[in-house]
Amino acid sequence: MAPRDIIVLPDKKLRLVSETVTKVDSGILKLVEEMFQAMYEAPGIGLAAIQIGEPRRVVTLDLAGKDEPKAPQVFINPEIVWSSEETNVHEEGCLSIPDYYEEVTRPAEVKVKFLDQEGKPQEGHASGILATCLQHEIDHLNGVLFIDHLSKLKRDRVLKKYTKVAKRAAG
Ligand code: NI
Repeated sequence: MAPRDIIVLPDKKLRLVSETVTKVDSGILKLVEEMFQAMYEAPGIGLAAIQIGEPRRVVTLDLAGKDEPKAPQVFINPEIVWSSEETNVHEEGCLSIPDYYEEVTRPAEVKVKFLDQEGKPQEGHASGILATCLQHEIDHLNGVLFIDHLSKLKRDRVLKKYTKVAKRAAG
């Protein structure tokens, strides 16, 4: 099965608010599988379902290093229930905004509630790169992109660039 395409800026779907998953059924598990396939193929470390065009509240992550075994993580209906006042700056990128990286300031630690692949409620505490990635992906579920955390000047510049690229590709 060929991996699903990842949608890129300025695709309007990226601005959709994704729907809550009411039941973790075989359809959701298939979606999770397709998300990992697209994410590893890219390759990337995180993906929200909307990035393959499915407006569902599902996030996949794998933060394992290059030479480490795979460490897939799935978050269904993830919700930040607490964020630290302390912030962190990380350079972020996004598979839907290819080849663009910029530093983003976010809370350094978060507590997240979510459902696992068995549909069981879980709660986790995240810091470091995991905290950043979770916030980045949960933003996607709300139609928010990491460029929204940058200055208007930088954001407009990026939007313009990707709109131009898309127009050129469309001929
Ligand atoms: Ni992203």
